[in-house]
Amino acid sequence: MDEKYVAPAPTRWRGGASVAAAAPATSPSADDSIPCYLTLPPVEDASTRERLGRMLDLVRGGMPWQEALAETHEPGFVRYVTDSRRGAFLDLLPLTKESDILEIGPGLGQFTASLARRARRVNALEVVPEQAEFVRLRMRQEDAPGVEVAIGGDDCRLPYRDASFDGIVLNLVFEWCGSRLESESHEAAQTRLLEEMVRVLTPGGFLYLATKNRFGLRLLFGEADEHMFDLPFGSALPRGLAAWLLRRRGRSRPMGQLYSHDELAAKLRRAGLAEVRSYWAVPEMRYPAEYVRSDAASVGAARAQPGFRAGHGRKVNVLMRLMPAAWVRHFMPGLAFLAFKAPARR
Ligand SMILES: C[S@@+](CC[C@H](N)C(=O)[O-])C[C@H]1O[C@@H](n2cnc3c(N)ncnc32)[C@H](O)[C@@H]1O
Repeated sequence: MDEKYVAPAPTRWRGGASVAAAAPATSPSADDSIPCYLTLPPVEDASTRERLGRMLDLVRGGMPWQEALAETHEPGFVRYVTDSRRGAFLDLLPLTKESDILEIGPGLGQFTASLARRARRVNALEVVPEQAEFVRLRMRQEDAPGVEVAIGGDDCRLPYRDASFDGIVLNLVFEWCGSRLESESHEAAQTRLLEEMVRVLTPGGFLYLATKNRFGLRLLFGEADEHMFDLPFGSALPRGLAAWLLRRRGRSRPMGQLYSHDELAAKLRRAGLAEVRSYWAVPEMRYPAEYVRSDAASVGAARAQPGFRAGHGRKVNVLMRLMPAAWVRHFMPGLAFLAFKAPARR
């Protein structure tokens, strides 16, 4: 255990419009509040917070979480939260009933209960207080065992001791994780989060990290990129050119940052992850039908299966089928890595 690590004292979040500046509490379950490690004020706009607040009130009043979600959100978002296929990546993870898992950015708890059923304990760290509260209430309704929810992560630091977790899940969070830290680059914040994740992993522990690909075909075809305020081609542009175009639109920095396959794999290795496995989420990242190892032999075998759908949309499907198998990992829509911290030396 690193003696230099000092766990920050949390404030407590008890619901309502803002984070309570309450006196630090040390016993997380002494009352019904959630430990809060935020260092910055929440950035969600008023209508988002109002909508989340309404949903929370319904759940607190006893409504099943699915109904409260459907009552307050668009069908597309309801599907994003409830479609069980989204959790297909859980089958890749080496989870056992002895595993202590950290889930960063659980959103509305789309994977938290499934994780909890396959592990011993899940700590869920969510940056949006109302979402964290929803996860906690949802886990109670679902009788999910061993879930502890906390609010934090905005500074890309983790309020946990060294070597606390056997595994970490970071699904579609990495690209956004530094978005609140206006005073530093996304890359600096993301590098810190990677180092923090390695710090809190046990030797031999795993990190599952899935994010979008900077050179996914969709962006190379010129589609608007939400990480770059809808700039066409967005993250696929040379970074200097993208920054210049954003400045001309009055934006000082992107909203999020994407990487290429090889950039991110190298970043994981530099952070101290030894074995790095890469997967192609097929046909796309958010609603995958299956995960295929992204080496040429596995891609070739997968594409030879009858009825295999290589991508969403005709153009992407055809190109992902026809391009050399060794190129697929560079142009697939998402990057999904399962990486392992080096085991302890004896
Ligand atoms: C796109 S959603 C993904 C939610 C869920 N993991 C999934 O895959 O469906 C990103 C989530 O990460 C949370 N988030 C973003 N930055 C974070 C950070 N630095 N620390 C903790 N949570 C963060 C957001 O509030 C949001 O709930």
